Amino acid sequence: MSTTPPMLDVRHLVKQFPKRGGMFGKREVFTAVDDVSFQVNRGTTLALVGESGSGKSTVGMMLLGLLETTSGDVLYEGRPVIGLRGPERLALRRKLQVVFQDPFASLNARMTVAELVMEGMRVHKMYANDAERRARAQELLGQVGMPAHALDRYPHEFSGGQRQRIAIARALSVEPEFLVLDEPTSALDVSVQSQVLNLLRRLQRERGLTYLFVTHNLAVVDYLADEVCVMEKGKIIERGMVEDVFDHPQHVTTQRLLAAVPKVEM
Ligand SMILES: Nc1ncnc2c1ncn2[C@@H]1O[C@H](COP(=O)(O)OP(=O)(O)OP(=O)(O)O)[C@@H](O)[C@H]1O
Ligand SMILES: [Mg+2]
Repeated sequence: MSTTPPMLDVRHLVKQFPKRGGMFGKREVFTAVDDVSFQVNRGTTLALVGESGSGKSTVGMMLLGLLETTSGDVLYEGRPVIGLRGPERLALRRKLQVVFQDPFASLNARMTVAELVMEGMRVHKMYANDAERRARAQELLGQVGMPAHALDRYPHEFSGGQRQRIAIARALSVEPEFLVLDEPTSALDVSVQSQVLNLLRRLQRERGLTYLFVTHNLAVVDYLADEVCVMEKGKIIERGMVEDVFDHPQHVTTQRLLAAVPKVEM
C-alpha cells in the first residue's frame, strides 16, 4: 500500500472578512470560506466550481499565500505551508504558480514579453545569466504556441488568447509542479477557450503538472478535471469524480450549474 501523501492537502480552511456596514462598534465578520477541506493528488486536476461569490478564488489565494488564512491548515507534500517565511516560502512559491482570468490585469503592461517570462527565473536565480534566461523564454514561448517575434513586444500587442499563453509561459518559467488556474479561459471567446484548454491539457500531460482549476463553467470541468468540488456560500456542498457528479448530481445547486452548462466545442 502506498503512503504517499496527497500533493496538496487542505484542512478546515476558513477565511473571514470584516463585514462592511456592521453595527457601530461591533466587529461583525463575513465568512467567505467556511471549513473547506480537499486533497489534490499529483498529476491530477481538481476543479473548484460554484457560482460567483461562493469563495473559489479566496481558497486559491490562500493556497498561494497571497491571502492570510483565518484558520485551517494547508499541507504541500505533507508539509505545512501556512506561515512559511524566507527561503522556505520562496521555494514553495516556485513550485506553486497561478494563472488568473484577466491577463490584462495580471501582466505588467510596461514589461516586454521577454521580461515578463524572465522575471520569475531571475527571482529564483535560475540559469547563469540573462542570455540563457532569454533563450529559455524563447523556448517556452514556442511551447505555448507563441511566435518567436513575441519576445520584444508588449502584452497589449496580442489578443486575449495570446496574452493568456504568455501568462502560462510566465507561470511555467520557474518549472512549477502545481498550477492554480483561476478562470483562465473565462474572458476568452469560445473557440479561443478550447485552444487554451487544449494547451493546458497537453502541458499537464507532458510535465506531470497538478492543477487546481477554478471555474463556474462545468463544460470546462468535464474536459479537464478528474475530480470536482462544488462550492456554495463558502462551503463545499458536493464532491466526487467528475463522471459521478455529472451523472448523479446530488445537490440542487450542482443540478442547476449542470443545467446551465454552456456548450464548448473541444
Ligand atoms: N478582500 C475582501 N474583502 C471582503 N470581502 C471579500 C474580499 N475578497 C472576497 N470577498 C468576498 O468573499 C466572497 C467570495 O469571493 P470570491 O472572490 O472567493 O468568490 P468566487 O467564487 O471566486 O467568485 P467569482 O466566480 O465571481 O470569481 C464574496 O462574497 C466576496 O465579496
Ligand atoms: Mg473568483
